[in-house]
Amino acid sequence: MSLQVIVLAAGQGTRMRSALPKVLHPVAGKSMLGHVLDTARLLSPDAIRVVIGHGAERVREQCGAADIAFFHQAEQLGTGHAVAQAADDLQAERVLILYGDVPLIEVETLERLLAQVSAEQIALLTVELDDPTGYGRIVRGGDGQVRAIVEHKDASAEQRLIREGNTGILAVPGDRLAGWLQRLSNDNAQGEYYLTDVIALAVADGLRVATEQPQDPVEVQGANDRIQLAQLERHYQQRMARRLMAQGVTLRDPARLDVRGEVTVGRDILIDVNVVLEGQVVIEDEVQIGPNCVIRDCVLRRGAVIKASSHLEGAEVGEGADCGPFARLRPGAVLEAHAHVGNFVEVKNARLGEGAKAGHLSYLGDASIGARSNIGAGTITCNYDGANKYRTELGEDVFVGSNSALVAPVTLGAGATTAAGSVITGDVPAGNLAVGRARQRNIEGWQRPVKKKPV
Ligand code: UD1
Ligand code: CA
Repeated sequence: MSLQVIVLAAGQGTRMRSALPKVLHPVAGKSMLGHVLDTARLLSPDAIRVVIGHGAERVREQCGAADIAFFHQAEQLGTGHAVAQAADDLQAERVLILYGDVPLIEVETLERLLAQVSAEQIALLTVELDDPTGYGRIVRGGDGQVRAIVEHKDASAEQRLIREGNTGILAVPGDRLAGWLQRLSNDNAQGEYYLTDVIALAVADGLRVATEQPQDPVEVQGANDRIQLAQLERHYQQRMARRLMAQGVTLRDPARLDVRGEVTVGRDILIDVNVVLEGQVVIEDEVQIGPNCVIRDCVLRRGAVIKASSHLEGAEVGEGADCGPFARLRPGAVLEAHAHVGNFVEVKNARLGEGAKAGHLSYLGDASIGARSNIGAGTITCNYDGANKYRTELGEDVFVGSNSALVAPVTLGAGATTAAGSVITGDVPAGNLAVGRARQRNIEGWQRPVKKKPV
């Protein structure tokens, strides 16, 4: 059966106290609306229609995509009015309505809901609440069948005792929706066109209302202020942590890992506390990540070890390679198998060949370093002349003495050595020793200066 999705995202979100439209506030680095759209996409709908209003331009800019159509709701006259903006010439057997500020809804829940909708039946997602204040209440008849939804402000004292609340998420037969929306009135406590009144209209037309509940009430929690936003963030992170553990990852503390993107994991991975994973991160079997690491858009090959407080972005760490503590791998850094990068080493757009080592205090930028080469402490690739960048090429088994400055463009052949403290401005042939520093002189009988006495 064909499906279209309508996402309501026009509300202002006054309580966020923000210049940013509410639905653009992020959970795990992605806007709430972005989460909803990505979940909707998993249902493979024919179209996704998004109703925007407050901050419409920014929402369009940030969430625009080929599969999204935007509809503008100039004035927020209620959820029914909002859906009506997007309901013209809907050509789908089923229409699913989602909220742009309810980001943790799970695709499995939506699939269960959609399985209930048909030409004779509406499917409504409801939730049992300890404190249903503010929610629309699900009113059932003596036979247990849903008759209507009554908004909190319109509800009688008796109706307010009902703890089954409306999540706002529902699925309806597409050919009926426009007709029901036309029949809505705003004669109620809030003077709004309530989408929820569609339920009573459908019942009057002889349809049944099937209800489903989310697996976890968190799925239907919205964020109206930054406290609720932070709660959603924590729920999301708990969900991510549980998923990773279920896949065979040991987390030293599931409450101290943050995932802001997509992580692909192997088995027997160990992640210590306060690690942040961002963007697309691939972690193969037996990788170990120490505490306080930030890892963004990286591939960590089997058995790689990332030691404490390292910052990695756009890097690949090869099989059994290690880096840190306090390593910085920037975009284009590639450590081949068993390479080693130690503390206070920055690597950018540079490849360290198999088993190459840079143990301490170095900058390696725009470079290629051959297998088994050793970079002494304090070595710097001088890759930038203030206008252009140049490459440093090292062959295999090169030994760079401590505190060498390699002034690019420069090439050191296989097995070359540089003396400590050298400034290397010219190529070094294979097997040569390059000494690029002043020769030491010893001055005999040297008298240290003495402090002048005041006159
Ligand atoms: C709505 C439901 C209520 C349900 C509750 C769940 C109605 C009448 N009531 O109430 O039964 O328990 O959600 O949270 O539907 N929006 C627009 N345009 C508008 C009005 C709202 O786009 O004109 C969007 C909002 O941005 C938001 C969503 O629709 O994403 C819900 O609006 P909100 O005002 O929060 O609805 P409630 O009154 O809380
Ligand atoms: Ca609400």
